[in-house]
Amino acid sequence: MATKVREIEKPDIPIPVRQLIVGTRLPCDIFIRENDELKVLFNMDVLYTKISQDILKEKGISEVYIFMRDSPRFDHYLSANRSLNRPVDPDSKASFKEYAYRKEQYHQIDPALLTPGTQISFSLLLLDKFKFSPLLDASDNSPAELDESVLKVAGDLIIKKSDLPRYYEYILALRQSDKLSGSDKIKIKSLAVKETSKIVLQDFLADPRSGEKIKEVNTLVNDMIDCILEDRDAIYMLLSMKGYDYYTYTHSVNVAALSVSLGIAIDLKRDDIEKLGTGTMLHDIGKSVISHEILNKQGKLDNVEYTVMKSHVIEGEKIMRDHKSFPEESLSAVVQHHEKLSGKGYPYGLCGKDIGLFGRISAIADCYDALTTRRPYRLAFSPFTALTVISKETGDYDASLLRIFIKMLGKIS
Ligand SMILES: [Fe+2]
Ligand SMILES: [Fe+2]
Repeated sequence: MATKVREIEKPDIPIPVRQLIVGTRLPCDIFIRENDELKVLFNMDVLYTKISQDILKEKGISEVYIFMRDSPRFDHYLSANRSLNRPVDPDSKASFKEYAYRKEQYHQIDPALLTPGTQISFSLLLLDKFKFSPLLDASDNSPAELDESVLKVAGDLIIKKSDLPRYYEYILALRQSDKLSGSDKIKIKSLAVKETSKIVLQDFLADPRSGEKIKEVNTLVNDMIDCILEDRDAIYMLLSMKGYDYYTYTHSVNVAALSVSLGIAIDLKRDDIEKLGTGTMLHDIGKSVISHEILNKQGKLDNVEYTVMKSHVIEGEKIMRDHKSFPEESLSAVVQHHEKLSGKGYPYGLCGKDIGLFGRISAIADCYDALTTRRPYRLAFSPFTALTVISKETGDYDASLLRIFIKMLGKIS
């Protein structure tokens, strides 16, 4: 009788290993077959990590087993995680539309602020090759310890928008830590300013009429200026240049950091650097009215799409003019960042001296960041190549500002 019961309960439903999803808790006990015997490999509720996946791959195990009675539970696990584990076909319109929409539900973060061994209460996911996959499950009730392997993954580390308050708390705690000193302090402060700016800008892009957010942008620009004044190398912590995809908020913080740094290099007054920083941080705010599909389109925009995309400058001007506290000087970074000295820019085709200093600075910073940012359909230019490309566009950019810009970025070129 006892033997019969054991036979009925034999875990004999085979499951391909690829159905186990990194970063999820396993829905039931998982077995492997070794020397014709079935042995427990993972217990139910265990976190399936990248390390577990690598070990199975190393051992050449491609199939695991579960009990028949756990089959419905496993089916539910698969369907609950299906949307995260499904790759997107960038050539399929419907599939890409879904990707563009889904991308907006997440926020890209910098792994440099995540220390292995610390506890986090927000979940981590990975965006790579148009595919979203869970990496680590965590919440207030069930915090998780950060594992080094999680931070080494290739792709963009992302979190759910609903987890932003918990991520914000994590940054705040790091910034306020009394264990920091010397170079660590300025490094963490710069990374924290960058990450907080990205959060505030993503919020601003979602609600560009909010007056409150301008004050937050001003505070962050001042923090950014303090970081660079304290240590010119802080610029490297303030910039995000590696990534799988493009995010308007990340690009905006990069353009502001580059512009502020250039403003400092040419000895602008503090008050002017603040106006330059605020203007460049919000230079692409008009993209808030452009559809996600056009913003995220992989490859060349057609004529109609390009016209829509270019309208972000006029839209940005309209939005920022309504903000009475936004300085007129800052507005020139919004209005003129796509103008070129040759007159070939947009929206007004301004030439030479008609383009102000903030317009000239933001145009260089904007183009440099666009070239050094990776897109899923093309690799990023190295800083050196990007600077060479911009330098060849003689007649489009201010040559003396460009020289100082190149010198300023000499270390990363
Ligand atoms: Fe722009
Ligand atoms: Fe831009």
